[in-house]
Amino acid sequence: MTDRIQYEKNNLCIEDIPAADLAEKYGTPLYVYSKNRVTEKFEALRKAFHGTVDIRILYALKANSNTEILKHIQTLGAGADTVSAGEIFLALKNGFRPECISLAGAGKTDGDINFGLARNIGTFIVESTEELHVISKCALALNKTARVLLRINPDVDARTHPHISTGLKENKFGINMDHVENAAKLATKLKNVEFAGLHCHIGSQITEVEPFTEAAESFRKLATKLEKSRIRVKQIDLGGGIGVQYRNAIKHKSLPLEKSQDTSIDLRSLAEVIKENLSFPGCELTIEPGRFLVAEAGVLLTRVLYKKVSSARTFVVVDAGMNDMMRHALYSAYHQIVPTKIQKSKIETVDIVGPVCESTDAFAIQRKIPSVKRGDLLAIMTTGAYGFSLASNYNSRLKPAEILVDKDYARVIRDRQTYEDLV
Ligand code: LLP
Repeated sequence: MTDRIQYEKNNLCIEDIPAADLAEKYGTPLYVYSKNRVTEKFEALRKAFHGTVDIRILYALKANSNTEILKHIQTLGAGADTVSAGEIFLALKNGFRPECISLAGAGKTDGDINFGLARNIGTFIVESTEELHVISKCALALNKTARVLLRINPDVDARTHPHISTGLKENKFGINMDHVENAAKLATKLKNVEFAGLHCHIGSQITEVEPFTEAAESFRKLATKLEKSRIRVKQIDLGGGIGVQYRNAIKHKSLPLEKSQDTSIDLRSLAEVIKENLSFPGCELTIEPGRFLVAEAGVLLTRVLYKKVSSARTFVVVDAGMNDMMRHALYSAYHQIVPTKIQKSKIETVDIVGPVCESTDAFAIQRKIPSVKRGDLLAIMTTGAYGFSLASNYNSRLKPAEILVDKDYARVIRDRQTYEDLV
């Protein structure tokens, strides 16, 4: 895979454009995405499954729902996995066909459900029998049929950060394995509901195949059981969760090599597991990757405001804050942070923190980076997923601009907010 984000003569480039030029022109903090990296990730996924299993890719909009990113991913051939009426709206606006859109979410409002029904979306992912009744009622009132998948809770440990683990029975998501058969029977009986199959999403940033294997085995057992009760499973959706490598996202001889325990999923093995367990005749397979497609395509550029040496720590205060990128504040998530220009500087151990009035407003704690000073530019790597989409206006800070780079062409795909946007 070509490295679309790399150093060219010691200057960090996004495709063919130096990151420093973009920061100069558009200001900081600034999200920059490589369009071709998204394409490569999509193709890598498609290629890994090709020839083994036929699987449809539904992009999870929550990872990055910028309009231009959505248009691009739709053009590549993905469907859309949404979790709100807002996301359905965005998917439709950016070219996704209604039948290629699914609506998930543990707490869909009647408004979300009616919005989806009125626009004839392909699938509703249902999380409880109560929700089945509500969907049936809404569908009846609108004279529509809701095609549903039941989200199961397979009680599988995704071995990821507890905050992004969703497939354990303690988690709020999905229907208990023991209750699925009854829920499926109900779904086949309810008015204006079509039972289509099963769904699960066991967690995010999963870096081993095993949790998926366990989930696939649960599906196999359940589907076989349902077939015995003459309930046909026409679709199985394995959810999202394929992890990416956050450490050593970019390498250079002057950068410290990061200690890495990150493994990555062998996608061909994943394809084999799916084939072995889920090749039922006439059953369509789908997955819902978010992070895998966009995380590595994005960087967040930020400028050093101050360097403060206190008795216990050296703080590098940058102009991006937790409101711009909150993964570290929320999950202590690790992101590599690198200078946009490699200079001959010594390596220092610093805390890289933002300007927001919270102690959790940090991007890295006790991190070794080449020494920086006021005015220098840093790139927070692998921020294309759950970066801007989690951004807020906390502290009445303006949300950053987003730039899309395609080879030597860069364009603004979201303007930086203005003070008027705060009103
Ligand atoms: N499908 C469902 C039903 C989901 O809930 C999610 C993510 C996905 C698909 C996509 O998962 P992915 O392929 O991106 O792992 N904010 C957290 C991640 C939360 C993920 C929530 N659900 C983070 O920054 O790590």
